[in-house]
Amino acid sequence: MNLENIFNKLWEIYTTQNPDVQKVYNLFKSEGEEVINDHIAFRTLNDKRVNIDVLAKPFLKNGYEYINSYEFRDKHLFAKHYEHKSLKNAPRIFISELILEEFDNDFKSFLINLINRIPENSLNSEDLIFSGNLWGKPSFEKYNALREKSEYAAWFYVFGFCANHFTVSVNHLKKYDTIQKVNELLKNNGFDLNTSGGEVKGTPEELLEQSSIKSGLIEIDFVEGKHKIPGCYYEFAKRYPDATGNLYSGFIAKSADKIFESTDFYQK
Ligand code: NI
Repeated sequence: MNLENIFNKLWEIYTTQNPDVQKVYNLFKSEGEEVINDHIAFRTLNDKRVNIDVLAKPFLKNGYEYINSYEFRDKHLFAKHYEHKSLKNAPRIFISELILEEFDNDFKSFLINLINRIPENSLNSEDLIFSGNLWGKPSFEKYNALREKSEYAAWFYVFGFCANHFTVSVNHLKKYDTIQKVNELLKNNGFDLNTSGGEVKGTPEELLEQSSIKSGLIEIDFVEGKHKIPGCYYEFAKRYPDATGNLYSGFIAKSADKIFESTDFYQK
């Protein structure tokens, strides 16, 4: 599968499952903006059958290369970022994984068992990256139990393999050329920002400013019946040139740490 098909498929699933995301995209388009993606992010477990290196395969095959890695100690996460070798506007790929060894045995074996339930041909498939939940209908009780230890794990249990978020490159917007202007537009149109760590994560001095909307609540069919939980979110990033005049291209771990919380459970 080529890159264009991979991105189209990811986008289609992301916007179909998360109507709020489509609304934000439409809002930018109606303002005459071209929406270019800064990065696309994925979540997984560090089980070697589905870890970062497995999810990165279709991108490496299509011209991406490894750039850097990041640690999020409090959240028990590790992440790698990839960039396309030649396509200038291709989104960065950011893949994180939960470090299972840092959790108790019950928690760990529950998650490993989800992976045990994935058929071999799905594990080896190029389509793994957008194949969603491959272990069947989730339990709301289990979702809540996982949340006690890791909101990240709970989200992964329900949604599995898909784009966790796309990120609008604010550098490519004409009218809304600052994170502050983007945030005002979102708030004026009724979207809730993730305020953990402030509405804006990072500073111009750190060369990267980010914000995100909280994931919209979507109805999920659990074993116990239907419940509304946060799905995926949309992120916004503005990059600044470094001392050599090149736009900073990395990620700031302490900002990303707060952005992860955009999928934390809440009720309206
Ligand atoms: Ni992100």
